[in-house]
Amino acid sequence: MRRTRLLIMGFAIAFLFLAQVASAQSPAPKVRAAEDGLALTPPMGWYPWNEFGQEPQNEQLVKDTVDALISSGLKEAGYVYVGPDEGICFSRGADGKLTSNLARYPSGLRGLGDYIHQRGLKYALYTDAGARTCSKAMPGTEDHEFDDMASFAAWRTDYLKVDWCNTQGLAHHSPAVHNDAMDERDVAPAYTKLCDAQLAAGRPIVFSLCSWGVGEPWKWAASVGHLWRTTGDIANPGHADWSNAMKNAAANEKLYAAAGPGHWNDPDLLINGMGGLSETQNRSFFSLWCIMAAPLMASNDLRKMTASTIQIMTNREAIGINQDPLGVQGHIVRKEGQAEIWAGKPLFDGSQAVLVFNAGTAPAEIHVNWSDIGSAESATLYVRDLWTHQTMGKHRGGLTVNVPAGDVALLRISKSRAFPVPPVIVADTYWLSFHAAGPAPQTLKGAITVKITGSDELPLWKVRAGLPSWLTVAVTKHGKSQTLANTVSTAGLAKGPYHVVVRADNIEPVSRRPMSALYYDVDLEVGGAGGHTGR
Ligand code: GLA
Repeated sequence: MRRTRLLIMGFAIAFLFLAQVASAQSPAPKVRAAEDGLALTPPMGWYPWNEFGQEPQNEQLVKDTVDALISSGLKEAGYVYVGPDEGICFSRGADGKLTSNLARYPSGLRGLGDYIHQRGLKYALYTDAGARTCSKAMPGTEDHEFDDMASFAAWRTDYLKVDWCNTQGLAHHSPAVHNDAMDERDVAPAYTKLCDAQLAAGRPIVFSLCSWGVGEPWKWAASVGHLWRTTGDIANPGHADWSNAMKNAAANEKLYAAAGPGHWNDPDLLINGMGGLSETQNRSFFSLWCIMAAPLMASNDLRKMTASTIQIMTNREAIGINQDPLGVQGHIVRKEGQAEIWAGKPLFDGSQAVLVFNAGTAPAEIHVNWSDIGSAESATLYVRDLWTHQTMGKHRGGLTVNVPAGDVALLRISKSRAFPVPPVIVADTYWLSFHAAGPAPQTLKGAITVKITGSDELPLWKVRAGLPSWLTVAVTKHGKSQTLANTVSTAGLAKGPYHVVVRADNIEPVSRRPMSALYYDVDLEVGGAGGHTGR
């Protein structure tokens, strides 16, 4: 008996040892988002390239877009990162540092960021890994990586897209190779350097790599950034191109295994709401991007949206599968003629997302097998249609849907009738700015209110330890809203500016998966003129 136990223990020790050796040999790949907690669901926001290109952007356009994003309901639906893309934002000064283009952005790039933050949105900017940006209108980061990332941090950027144009000079790793052709071996080292520069700048920033698939970023970029383009541009500015969009979807679909919380495949900006798309195409396109867990970065003119465009882009049930905390990218599990069955997307509550896309030119009756979602055909399951918002009774042995030409059925299938929607965070502001006049100690207060749109309340946000001595934050909850009450005390502080980025963390209560970290800026000016009091 004893011998057998010893033998078993011996085997167990040997097994543990071998397992340790194996794991030492193949450590789990590092994911950048595991540290910063950013973009744990696909980023949502607005970048104007598809509609506008780089030309007409200026401060007023971005501000008007911010206002339209809020008044149309897009903010409430979760669109949060906003910025001018290649909007001719900056040049390089004689000192080698970036400087805002004040002719186009009179408040400067920091001022534009403040406007965005004050409205509870996050600030997105754009640059390039090469010598110049794609239109050549702006300098790229080549040989200025650390200085430029410091500028983006000083402008309070929260999201940075880094393009891959004019990178011919980047063959650093291999001086022997010197030609004008873009070398895809440069991609990983160049973006890794930019990641190091961002980390050195100290501001948490969503890093969006834009090498259009060059250098196969899905194989290595999760440790460097939060999303990477998998394809070329979806549109030439001003023109939605349906066949190009379908090409991007097909290429992106194959890469589903690489996506997950904090590291996303990006088949490019949305074409929703652009001229030339039918309502059916708008719905089908949005459904594809939702089931692919693709970033939902609107790229249309938000000031001129039809009711139908708004209704499609703010469909919280469709957005719910895109923003699902499990972060699985759905893919095609079966094709029948021109019909595609997309599945492989388990959701946070145990249900499954399914997209039936009739890519043909005639209406079709399409059968979804329960085996398409890994269930026994004998199972009886509830089905919810995410476009008609109807829950259909129990089905056994699958379900047949009638889908018009080019249209979709976007479904959730579940053992339960509940169909909860995961949370989306909507904040009233991401910036608190305090000014204490004079040297006498003062106590100042300001609050951030965070609302949850989704079925369940969240636990209390947990503020990260390590706040400076002048700031305390207390969190209280009133149903789906939470208040982060900030108290600033100037006792013992010398005259001057103070700044901190506050981080709070939470979990989604059904799946218990981490939510994207909540960050906001707090400024304090002691003495001096000061620009803001309270919020
Ligand atoms: C590239 C990118 C686009 C856009 C433009 C700006 O083409 O892929 O998304 O940012 O540059 O010039």
